[in-house]
Amino acid sequence: MENEDGYVVMTLQMKRINSTQPSPHGSQGSPPGLDGYKVAVGVLGAVCVLLVSAVIAQSVWGFQAGWAECDIQQAAFVSRLKQSLCDPAWSGPAGGTGCELCPKDWRAHRGKCYWDSRRSQIWSESRKDCESRNSQMLVIRDQEEMDFINTIAEGTNHIWIGLNITSHTRNWTWVDGSPLNQTLFPVSGPVASGSCGVVKGNLINSETCSAEFKWICQKDAIVV
Ligand SMILES: *[C@@H]1O[C@H](CO)[C@@H](O)[C@H](O)[C@H]1NC(C)=O
Ligand SMILES: *[C@@H]1O[C@H](CO)[C@@H](O)[C@H](O)[C@H]1NC(C)=O
Ligand SMILES: *[C@@H]1O[C@H](CO)[C@@H](O)[C@H](O)[C@H]1NC(C)=O
Repeated sequence: MENEDGYVVMTLQMKRINSTQPSPHGSQGSPPGLDGYKVAVGVLGAVCVLLVSAVIAQSVWGFQAGWAECDIQQAAFVSRLKQSLCDPAWSGPAGGTGCELCPKDWRAHRGKCYWDSRRSQIWSESRKDCESRNSQMLVIRDQEEMDFINTIAEGTNHIWIGLNITSHTRNWTWVDGSPLNQTLFPVSGPVASGSCGVVKGNLINSETCSAEFKWICQKDAIVV
């Protein structure tokens, strides 16, 4: 029976220790053996707390050391990226404005990456294509960006941009949800449900969304 149950074995051992050194408080009502048992439990508890504290301390320290190591590795990685992929003109002693990285076949300009399609399709398919490239259809912020788009367009007559008429309010809305500033870019052509925006020259025109044109996608550049 003693071998079957560790608890019983331990209690009996405590009793044996107790019998050789009787407790001074033994007469105050505690059954013989219980004081030694309490001491043992207390000691075990203290050891346990110490062990747990040690493990926690070690893991916290290891965690911090891990982060420091991670920072060092990341700095080394960014440095390698810069060296390998950035124009040396970017990495001046003053820090420069940061070098912009874009995926292969995308062009970097002022913090954005641009991709222009070779084929033509309807507006909604163009929008889906941009989404499938983890990007969105072009949203033009200002005249400078419009001028840059014209250098990408290279004489292409119509290019879909991420602009359409929202069905109920009949307002021109960019695919990021912002309204078009018509002071900046007045749109020529019909304002009807089913109208989408194209860039034509330096201007924005309205076209029927089911027409097929080339399109431009954009995403944020990675700055290192
Ligand atoms: C749509 O445009 C009109 C003016 O043309 C404006 O009053 C209205 O607030 C706009 N609606 C939305 C949802 O932007
Ligand atoms: C306009 O574009 C939005 C996405 O930006 C789309 O949900 C909506 O269906 C489009 N409207 C029309 C009439 O195609
Ligand atoms: C619209 O564009 C004009 C011209 O750039 C600018 O002065 C105005 O503040 C813009 N309006 C909004 C609401 O951004």
